[in-house]
Amino acid sequence: MSAEQRADALVSALTLDEKLTLVTGYFGVQKDWNQYRFPEARAQSAGLVRGVARVGFPPQWQTDAGSGVATQGEAPPELERTLLPSGILTASTWNPALAERAGAMIGSEARSSGFNVMLAGGVNLLRDPGNGRNFEYGGEDPLLAGTMVGALTRGIQSNRIVSTVKHYALNDQETGRNVVNVKIDEAAARMSDLLAFQLAIEQGDPGSIMCSYNLVNGVYACQNEWLLNQVLKGDWGFRGYVMTDWGAQHDTVQNANAGLDQETGVREKSDYQWLDKLAAAIKGGKVPQARLDDMVRRISRTLLEKGVIDAPVELGKIDFAEHAKVTQAAAEEGIVLLKNANVLPLAANVQRVAVIGGHADVAVLTGGGSAQVYAPGGNAVRGLGPQHWPGPHVYARSSPLAALRGELPKADISWSDGSDLALAAKAAAAAEVAIVFVTQWTAEAQDFSLTLPDAQDKLVEAVARANPRTVVVLETGGPVLLPWLERVAGAVQAWYPGSQGGPAIARVLSGAVNPSGHLPASFPRALEQLPRPQIAGLSVPKDQPFEVRYDEGAAVGYRWYDKQKLEPLLPFGHGLSYTSFAQTSLQARLVGDELEVSFRIANTGARAGKHVAQIYVSPVAGGWEAPKRLGAFSKVELAAGAATDATVRVDPRLLATYDVARHGWHIAAGDYTVSLATSARDATQSVKIQLPERWLRAGAGAKQP
Ligand code: BGC
Repeated sequence: MSAEQRADALVSALTLDEKLTLVTGYFGVQKDWNQYRFPEARAQSAGLVRGVARVGFPPQWQTDAGSGVATQGEAPPELERTLLPSGILTASTWNPALAERAGAMIGSEARSSGFNVMLAGGVNLLRDPGNGRNFEYGGEDPLLAGTMVGALTRGIQSNRIVSTVKHYALNDQETGRNVVNVKIDEAAARMSDLLAFQLAIEQGDPGSIMCSYNLVNGVYACQNEWLLNQVLKGDWGFRGYVMTDWGAQHDTVQNANAGLDQETGVREKSDYQWLDKLAAAIKGGKVPQARLDDMVRRISRTLLEKGVIDAPVELGKIDFAEHAKVTQAAAEEGIVLLKNANVLPLAANVQRVAVIGGHADVAVLTGGGSAQVYAPGGNAVRGLGPQHWPGPHVYARSSPLAALRGELPKADISWSDGSDLALAAKAAAAAEVAIVFVTQWTAEAQDFSLTLPDAQDKLVEAVARANPRTVVVLETGGPVLLPWLERVAGAVQAWYPGSQGGPAIARVLSGAVNPSGHLPASFPRALEQLPRPQIAGLSVPKDQPFEVRYDEGAAVGYRWYDKQKLEPLLPFGHGLSYTSFAQTSLQARLVGDELEVSFRIANTGARAGKHVAQIYVSPVAGGWEAPKRLGAFSKVELAAGAATDATVRVDPRLLATYDVARHGWHIAAGDYTVSLATSARDATQSVKIQLPERWLRAGAGAKQP
């Protein structure tokens, strides 16, 4: 029988109580505050949906998140698992194949840890650089974010488990996330945040989608008929199931009728909206029985199609040594060389290096909240940050200092922790090169200032004054202000680089790895450049509802800077290499209805490297939310002196605007500029092409339901 037929058979066989069981999820954590501590829950896990043993339906064991198997809030004993770099670093690789391998690795650890649902695949757009969860997501561009998160999802699900793309939708800030009403025009939403989801869903085929805490245009996302029934299930033909973010259910009837399929995160009686309440609503005719059957059919069909039921998860051994290679490869490819005034790579014969700050003697930083993974060896730096969730600050035991000493065995590499500016400056003055590590912990449920905490800017200034050959290594969750960039010789964005972050950073600095990461988000020069210099609702009392208006619409990130004619400090797409590349022979043509672009890339330098070619598209007559959009990209690896031809297709939605009245995408007839670029600000060549008018349905790209 097909999954569809088996799901139908289940719907016929199950009792009402059994159906209600499958649509209700509990917190998995075995703590007093959880009134539902079921014996079958996995220790310290995000969630459990109980099974129905009578028909062989397994429990759904749910774990976070996109960088590996997490341990839920302050809940020792911690599970130690391989930690991938944060999502924003994975996006910085611009390499979907690598994201897929990374996903396959963490998915296998989920499976071996007894989880069959991974709450992974965060694809909220980076609208506000201060959003505390930017580290979990794929940056500011819908094509890049959707492609990279889609690839990660594919990898996770290759383990015959479900991955949950989240948080649908427009959950782009953490301040007031349970009460904030996001106001955005429908067309703008379709061309920005929703497009990122649409692409991730098409490319990753996730079994489930998590609806978010916030309201969208006045209605909670998890009871939002437009978001769930009309766009996701209707236009895009999504056949999987929708689960709430933990506790994001508010109304029995509205949740059910708007298209929610599973409520989650129940930890006390007042949390749940379904169970007996849904039974009563069905009995009273407020929710059709067919709706509950549809929820159960969707969940069953998905678990059958993905393999969860036929290939039950079992606790197994994890090959940590092999997985360390996967996370290190990801980190090495996503670290971004931001600036290099002839200081990197460190010369093989360098004799004295000063390493300063950021706990680089023992560890690299990780992001906090539900996505918190404890890397092998546990938290390497204890006692920092908030005592309670989403704290504390957790560091992965992986020392950049030790790894650098391994890379440069002949050099004398000193260490100072950076707490004393005079000592740090003295160490820097005594060295040929000073390397300062600066960190900013970010986490779920709060937003952050773009100024580095603990006066670290002062540390950088002091070190740079003492030694102009200063390199700054940043471990941050998103873009921050870099007021000293002019005064340092080099800068490297390492984001949160995961459990092999130490060697990955050291190998980029030493040149063992030629950096090839590119920014998935613009870095502002100053807060005033942002659509919202301050995160909305910061001064609103806790739990008091407020609005955030996304008046910038689809002009997110580089599109905003272009539209406002602002020069960012570092543009989207920026990333340097230790070799040089030439991009030439740009051609654009129509193949059938599709825009195809080809070009040639040559490695004109002296060492092998990887290059990200970026194609931007732009209507000559204007008419978009901003002058241009990323239309396609391609990463290629080239030996020194080698060259290759590349061809990419531009997704038609990236050439269109969304027309609400006609319920579809519209490409206006006319001339378009196609540019080959190395960042949103650096086009190397442009050509023009004339496109005919074209209409596409709202769900263009979706598998036919
Ligand atoms: C987060 C989700 C997470 C869930 C379960 C929520 O607080 O927003 O991303 O999957 O908790 O841990």
